[in-house]
Amino acid sequence: MQITLSVNGREHTREVEPRLLLVHLLRDELGLTGTHWGCDTSNCGACVVWMDDVPVKSCTVLAAMASGRRVRTVEGLEGRFGLDQVQLSFTLCHGLQCGFCTPAMLLTSRWLLDHNPDPSDEEIRAAISGLTCRCTGYENIVRSIRHAAEQESLR
Ligand code: FES
Ligand code: FES
Repeated sequence: MQITLSVNGREHTREVEPRLLLVHLLRDELGLTGTHWGCDTSNCGACVVWMDDVPVKSCTVLAAMASGRRVRTVEGLEGRFGLDQVQLSFTLCHGLQCGFCTPAMLLTSRWLLDHNPDPSDEEIRAAISGLTCRCTGYENIVRSIRHAAEQESLR
């Protein structure tokens, strides 16, 4: 079947099998390997992208379901003026180790701060509760998101 979707502001048309998952379309067809694929059970959250401005696990979405929709991946997080604040804060606060969960953490953080500019630690932890980090113990991830919120409140 033919699908057309917008990814990071750019339109793509592809012939795909109806069973193709969005995560595989992004990685294998469009070369956007910042979206990670970490499990077969929809548990890890490494595959999170935005679809029409809402974070979704792209391993639970068929590529066909994304037709006509807007998708944003971690490659689309950086703006015209440089890295997004969440990217800067994760770097400054050591919010990552291996980095496997990081694209999903960044997109989820950006979504959280867009909807709640001053989240409590509890709200931060709730927002990332669908994402598994196998390295950091989450402390520096929470610190990074709080740092991003603080920096954005100064603007
Ligand atoms: Fe693990 Fe999607 S790849 S939840
Ligand atoms: Fe390694 Fe999160 S930094 S899984």
